[in-house]
Amino acid sequence: MKAAIIMTTGKPDIIHWNDVANPIAGSGQVLVRTEAVAVNPIDTYIRAGIVKAVLPNPYIIGGDIAGVVESVGPHTQYLKPGDRVWGSNQGLAGRQGTFAELCAIDEQWLYPIPGGVSSESAAAGALVGITAHLGLFLHGGLQAGETVFVNGGTGGVGSAVLQLARAAGATVITTAGSAEKVAACQRLGAAHVIAYRTEDIDRRFAEITATTGPIQLWFETLRTPSLDRCFSLMAPRGRVIFMAGRDARPEFPVGPFYVKDLRAIGFAMFNASSVEQRVAAMALNPMLADGRYKPLIGARLPLSDAAKAHQLQEDKALNSAGTLMGKIVLKP
Ligand SMILES: NC(=O)c1ccc[n+]([C@@H]2O[C@H](COP(=O)([O-])OP(=O)(O)OC[C@H]3O[C@@H](n4cnc5c(N)ncnc54)[C@H](OP(=O)(O)O)[C@@H]3O)[C@@H](O)[C@H]2O)c1
Repeated sequence: MKAAIIMTTGKPDIIHWNDVANPIAGSGQVLVRTEAVAVNPIDTYIRAGIVKAVLPNPYIIGGDIAGVVESVGPHTQYLKPGDRVWGSNQGLAGRQGTFAELCAIDEQWLYPIPGGVSSESAAAGALVGITAHLGLFLHGGLQAGETVFVNGGTGGVGSAVLQLARAAGATVITTAGSAEKVAACQRLGAAHVIAYRTEDIDRRFAEITATTGPIQLWFETLRTPSLDRCFSLMAPRGRVIFMAGRDARPEFPVGPFYVKDLRAIGFAMFNASSVEQRVAAMALNPMLADGRYKPLIGARLPLSDAAKAHQLQEDKALNSAGTLMGKIVLKP
């Protein structure tokens, strides 16, 4: 089969679309014929060697997948050939990634694709949807009626947080980098959108929170958070979620934090157990089916263009190029 592989870590051009041996479904695994995959920032950190990982050699890149079960290995419990499945959390902890025509994946990381949902949509919504769900509900304890802020309402994580929080009955405030993205956030259900490149952010926050009240849950997707601004806008006992910026060392305004009884919560989705991730995935499925969760797709490429996809993702997440709205999806 063909796969997007690396032999060493480095820049996007070390990714090659090569022939490799077909994987074999081991105990508890199924063989999935890939229909769509999506790129996440973590894929680029692993490829670049920024996130240190012991990688198989060659290493197949990628974590998200949607496809069809081709065959099942021994000791599998619930999947059968022909089932449509989506999953995430591959390419980690010694596991091969998903940017290949066939993937052998532990059943525990796969979920059914609801009828009527495309493979592209299921792949695009995978890691970011599970991340948003874990952050909002497992870690953040979101309640209906609360006010949520998330940066980047058309980003991968941001657009999922926006839609899931909205569906849970929260009022959502978000940011976007262009008029087109502001309009997209409004279509996704944001109550208030700050055009962060052109508007006075502090003035807009003041206007908005004068109507919504202070923020109960702040979901920080930026690697460079402004904690003075954040803490000043929070309600007493509000929760601030940190989930980006491994190297970030911002100043922490202790006084404004403790006098409001604020809580700081950090999490990484891949620390969640397969059971916790399945709970999130199975909660996303009905929302994918009825359109409450519509993963945004900004670019579609052939899987053979994985190197180009990594460059696009890096420009977007690390260099804030603002060139894309939503996920990059690739198909074999
Ligand atoms: N902890 C975890 O489990 C976990 C899971 C997934 C992702 N992450 C991390 O979360 C971060 C976001 O991931 P992603 O997949 O959502 O990335 P993404 O799809 O590339 O989105 C990045 C977003 O950031 C916005 N943005 C950039 N600069 C901004 C600024 N100055 N002010 C406001 N918004 C700004 C962009 O908005 P515009 O496009 O409108 O400019 C875009 O919406 C990454 O650092 C990633 O590594 C962590």
